[in-house]
Amino acid sequence: MSESYRRVKGTRDLLPPETAVWAAVEATARSVFGRYAYREIRTPIIEHTELFVRSVGESTDIVGKEMYTFADRKGRSLTLRPESTASVARAFVENGMTSWPQPVKLFYIGPQFRYERPQKGRYRQFHQIGAELLGDASPLADVELLLMLNRFLQELGFEDLVVLVNTVGDEASRQAYRASLVGFLTPRRDALSEDSQRRLESNPLRILDSKSPGDREQLEGAPELHDSLTPEAREHFDQVRAGLDAQGMAYRVENRLVRGLDYYTHTVFEIVSEGLGAQDALVGGGRYDGLVAALGGGAVPGIGFAIGEDRLLDVLPESFQRRFVPASPTTVVAVGEVSPMAALALAEELRSQGVECIAELTTRSLKSSMKRADRHGVERVLLLGEEEMESGRVTLRDLRSGRQGVVLRDRLAAVLTSDDFYEIVNPGPSGPEGEEER
Ligand code: HAM
Repeated sequence: MSESYRRVKGTRDLLPPETAVWAAVEATARSVFGRYAYREIRTPIIEHTELFVRSVGESTDIVGKEMYTFADRKGRSLTLRPESTASVARAFVENGMTSWPQPVKLFYIGPQFRYERPQKGRYRQFHQIGAELLGDASPLADVELLLMLNRFLQELGFEDLVVLVNTVGDEASRQAYRASLVGFLTPRRDALSEDSQRRLESNPLRILDSKSPGDREQLEGAPELHDSLTPEAREHFDQVRAGLDAQGMAYRVENRLVRGLDYYTHTVFEIVSEGLGAQDALVGGGRYDGLVAALGGGAVPGIGFAIGEDRLLDVLPESFQRRFVPASPTTVVAVGEVSPMAALALAEELRSQGVECIAELTTRSLKSSMKRADRHGVERVLLLGEEEMESGRVTLRDLRSGRQGVVLRDRLAAVLTSDDFYEIVNPGPSGPEGEEER
């Protein structure tokens, strides 16, 4: 196949039956978030580039090297969204949500785009399930958001995830910390990686996140952000922890967790799974009390998270996947001289009553119809012969057990949607072989 007809590197085709599991995960998110009164928001996939530069931050990896940015036909710079918090904050301001009853609770599900080196768990088009709470600055809002996230993951059957929590403080805390970190690292500058040397000027806090072993060595003994916290920032974090403790939620304080986006203030968190390998972050989030103001919306605090749905599916517990095995449709087959039109008509009758079914639309031998049904994973077949047409009955055959019975056409939908249909049908001759001779 020519390269141009293959999918773009870093993107994926999600196929059935896996898509049913994705839909079930999303339905669970809707259900759990709905219990906390979060409502869905759908924002465009393209935004003005400037939105992400301003909110995610010019010196971040996302803005610096990972955005899909292009000029439209009028030369405007547009970007495929690399994340959705900026879009939600923009939509909040643009749609006058500041005058809605506060706080505003929103969730979203959709694709995001980052030009990263693809590997397991890292794609160029990936999917996030996210939630954003705007207009509530209280530490208990942080606690409740984390409880919602935890409940969602619990309902999916996760038991072994680790919740990492930290604070990056307020602007004053960070300014003080930046100064002391730069003071500590400047004499060690030459031993730092090139990236970190650059960050020493542009965004020194990000050096804490460096994966380079050399950088990690230089960071030993570096001052801790916790020591630069203002009393207000410390109080906020203490209250978040007290709230999580009171609710019995397990978490670990990770002092060096800084996150790769610039809009964060106060609480930040990640949820990691050991099953994921190098790309182990399943969820990232935190508070962003300055973002709405930066976009011209006034002082509205915010907090949120985004779950990497692709990664979530990679480590989704078996127990959840088993609950969503797609149903096996019933197949309607016309037998002998009966036209496939009759099979189509019966199938339509059943569908109108909520039964999932396939109609065999091509005239073929009973044997090959059965084989086809089997290949489609069909468990029940309805046989519509001349005799059945005249008597208003249909033969119902279970392919797994070979058992079959005759059911009144009027009662078919009830029988097919009941779990123990054997109790209802009249026991007929068992075994498909004899039947095929008819
Ligand atoms: P983030 O940490 O950049 O945060 O992304 C959140 C999650 O998206 C990650 O933990 C990961 O599971 C998934 N993810 C990120 N990049 C990729 C990729 N290339 N391939 C697969 N999965 C990926 C945000 O996006 C923030 N907007 C989160 C947030 C919401 N903060 C406040 N509100």
